[in-house]
Amino acid sequence: MAHDLFEAARGAMAKAHAPYSKFPVGAAIRADDGRIYAGANIEVIAFPEGWCAETTAIGHMVMAGGTKIREVAVIAEKLARCSPCGGCRQRLAEFGTAETKVHLCDETGVVETVTLSELLPKAFETEVIG
Ligand code: THU
Repeated sequence: MAHDLFEAARGAMAKAHAPYSKFPVGAAIRADDGRIYAGANIEVIAFPEGWCAETTAIGHMVMAGGTKIREVAVIAEKLARCSPCGGCRQRLAEFGTAETKVHLCDETGVVETVTLSELLPKAFETEVIG
């Protein structure tokens, strides 16, 4: 059930620091360790330096030792079914799989579930780096 993820994302959204866009976003990841890691968008007065809710959640997961994203929920107060931005799709793909579920929410819960491969077909990946 993804309702717990929805609730975690909604709780994180309440902590958004979005004074410039006034567009609070929350995200919550269920990781391979069974734990939930949540995050909100954090904006900076030098606008390009801010970052997304999904990115905050990924940072929490990595620092706590989680390595894989099983599913993720995203919610935005002002936009039902807010879909992860392009950069976050690539970041989620770094720790997810093609089948990782992305739950798009409104204020009542999950309204649509898609997979990462639907959001980011033909993702950049290669073995010739490093
Ligand atoms: N935002 C997210 O946090 N996640 C997304 O996937 C879409 C956009 C944030 C970034 C910025 O703080 C605000 O929404 C408006 O773009």
